[in-house]
Amino acid sequence: MPFQAKQLQARVIGTGSYLPKKVLSNFDLEKMVDTSDEWIVSRTGMKERRIAHESEFASDMGLEAAIGALSSAGISADSIDLILCATSTPDHIFPSTACLIQSRLGATNAAALDIQAACSGYLYALSTAKAFIESGMYKNVLVVASEKLSTIVDYKDRNTCVLFGDGAAACVVSSQKKGLFIRKIQLGADGDQSELLIVPAGGSKNPSTAETVATNLHYLKMEGREVYKHAVRRMEASAKSCLDEMGMTESEISWLVPHQANIRIIEAIAKRFAVPMERVFMTIQKYGNTSASSVGIAIDELMREKPIKIGDNLLLVVFGAGLTWGASILTYGEDNE
Ligand SMILES: CC(C)(COP(=O)(O)OP(=O)(O)OC[C@H]1O[C@@H](n2cnc3c(N)ncnc32)[C@H](O)[C@@H]1OP(=O)(O)O)[C@@H](O)C(=O)NCCC(=O)NCCS
Repeated sequence: MPFQAKQLQARVIGTGSYLPKKVLSNFDLEKMVDTSDEWIVSRTGMKERRIAHESEFASDMGLEAAIGALSSAGISADSIDLILCATSTPDHIFPSTACLIQSRLGATNAAALDIQAACSGYLYALSTAKAFIESGMYKNVLVVASEKLSTIVDYKDRNTCVLFGDGAAACVVSSQKKGLFIRKIQLGADGDQSELLIVPAGGSKNPSTAETVATNLHYLKMEGREVYKHAVRRMEASAKSCLDEMGMTESEISWLVPHQANIRIIEAIAKRFAVPMERVFMTIQKYGNTSASSVGIAIDELMREKPIKIGDNLLLVVFGAGLTWGASILTYGEDNE
């Protein structure tokens, strides 16, 4: 019989996260715009969010999360072959935030690039890492997500300013045999709906000018109701296709780890897949929506706070501007072969 190499498997072998110290509560927001704690909690599930210091940037937060992920994985920075940083709020248009993290980490053997898929960025980066590992091209990929959304949020617009916060997450994806096996990832996009959630100025279409700044075009704009409908529909469909392709049933989901955009979206997904809310991991009440970092922060806290057992299945599901979305099934365990 001809020799057949065993299929390489990509696993998350360590996670980290970082949240800035400053808390912005609903009561603080009541003093800034016409809103109330009651409205925010009942419509979104959020109570507070974190705001980065003015001298703290996406690269600084991403670096802290990366240090945590390397320590939890038990590997050194020079073992990393590639750094992927998912962000919509990079320090600069270029160089990439991944390069800034590479330098500060001393990851001298790593290539580095940013990934822009808005709130779906962590899963897009995880799928890229999986592909590099399973092709055999790299052994260790560092995935980072870092967002300083407070720099693109208009704190005079109550429709959006209550929703977002700053923070970072990271994980090491490796060909090692123990960890969270990334069994399946399903991704999707619909650029026809790109206007629903957009930062109109600051890119090559509307470069920053005194006029774009005066008219607030460098702030995030969102059609909340429309985004909400797309989010529920796309997240449900993506998670279902992931489960179907794996031949898995809803009862096999140990933890649902969703993008933390709105508790009502999360509850709708949990109901659809019959996952009781005790098995839905949420950080939304503490951190709001931290975009690309959101699902990564949730995974890190889940791994640290809950007793994850061999064979437990995590269903991740994300949605963001683009529009972009995705779902993934991760199973905790060890490959003994
Ligand atoms: C933004 C969102 C919370 C708004 O909730 P909603 O129930 O859809 O609320 P609506 O947009 O229908 O607005 C209802 C009313 O509340 C008002 N309102 C909006 N923000 C408010 C706030 N912070 N405080 C008080 N009132 C507010 C609106 O002006 C509107 O008033 P009107 O009826 O007089 O026009 C919700 O649409 C949402 O979560 N959308 C998806 C957001 C998302 O996922 N974004 C990120 C994707 S990654």
